[in-house]
Amino acid sequence: KMKLAVLTSGGDSAGMNAVVRAVVKTAIIKGCETWIVREGYEGLVRGNDAGHHRSHNIGAEKGANGSRSRTPTPEAVETESFTQTLRYGDGDLLRDGTGDHPSGRSLKGRYIVRVGWDDVRGWFSEGGTLIGTARSMAFRTREGRLTATHNMIKEGIDALVVCGGDGSLTGADVFRAEWPGLVSELLSTGKITQEQARNHAHLKIVGLVGSIDNDMSMTDLTIGAPTALHRICESIDNINSTAYSHSRAFVLEVMGRHCGWLALMAGVSSGADFIFIPESPPDADHWADEMCNMIQSHRDIGKRKTIVIVAEGAIDSKLQPIHADHVKDILSERLGLDTRVTTLGHTQRGGRPCATDRTLPTLQGVEAVEALLESTPDTPSYMIGVRENKITRVPLMEAVKLTREVAQAISERDFEKAMSLRDPEFRE
Ligand code: F6P
Repeated sequence: KMKLAVLTSGGDSAGMNAVVRAVVKTAIIKGCETWIVREGYEGLVRGNDAGHHRSHNIGAEKGANGSRSRTPTPEAVETESFTQTLRYGDGDLLRDGTGDHPSGRSLKGRYIVRVGWDDVRGWFSEGGTLIGTARSMAFRTREGRLTATHNMIKEGIDALVVCGGDGSLTGADVFRAEWPGLVSELLSTGKITQEQARNHAHLKIVGLVGSIDNDMSMTDLTIGAPTALHRICESIDNINSTAYSHSRAFVLEVMGRHCGWLALMAGVSSGADFIFIPESPPDADHWADEMCNMIQSHRDIGKRKTIVIVAEGAIDSKLQPIHADHVKDILSERLGLDTRVTTLGHTQRGGRPCATDRTLPTLQGVEAVEALLESTPDTPSYMIGVRENKITRVPLMEAVKLTREVAQAISERDFEKAMSLRDPEFRE
């Protein structure tokens, strides 16, 4: 019986809860035992306090409202009690929160938690990640990964689903490669038994890409990007009405790290006047003229409002960052436009997932469990992607490597190469 744990890592994105839900439910249907890891890799390193009974399951207890399990499968335990515990109680363990739920249940000191069917009920409509995420420093060290291995073996876990960006997925593959060595070390230092070492000789890993940036190679869409784009469009709609009323210009800075997908798609969806993205740096000596000419021509034909979108990673041809404030000064000084800057910030990451960020993680979550069940020591770790509307399995390290090469090509201003690496069809 496969014992599978799922964690979310790196920046949160809409759809991560849908991943957890789909993975847990699919795994249960396929006869696996299911666990969640709280606070990303940090939770693996922290593990569970000594003395905690390893099969203890919050959901297995009677809920606060006294209700019984509604789903008659062995793993289908209790109602939304687990969700409630996370919501009202102790989501802040990394910051030393009080850690207690009004009902008396607590996850304090417990990072690797057994979950059942009802624990993830309704999760696909929730924003962010209910199981928490973190950028763990401890897991970056071998020592941290050794502790993580021990904690997983103590709970009997032999398969891991990681949902995060390229950094998180690289961490997953490094962990899998190191696993046999870590297990031997735990055995030789007497921390685990021969039998535990034998039962955990290999770790199965699969990655799902959760990121609003849509910056991963070998997949068309990352989980959370459609919702973030939707949030940006809503914000631009809001700004449009006030911009129109005052005949103002607005410069909007949007997220995306080194990827301009959000900025470009938001510009296309909202009829922006000018867009700056990292993949297409404008001529350092002429972009201001070019932008002013374009915007003036729009004003000349009677446009009352101006929207300029600046991706947070935007650069010019001399690799100098393009800042929203600088763009604003140019529009004010050269065109005399009453200009404001709006940095959308983390509003882009929050809120309810749109439909695509429910269907995509659900289909990919099913595929992730199937990939784990078919995994052997010889198969690579897979990343679950989507290509032309079909769910795909690609070697995780290949996708991560390509993503890094794209970033490298952009920093070397080889945009043709960057585009061909990001999109194989561009190459053909
Ligand atoms: O990778 C997702 C992302 O939201 C980027 O678009 C942004 O640059 C970064 O994370 C912000 O990170 P933080 O939440 O740590 O401020």
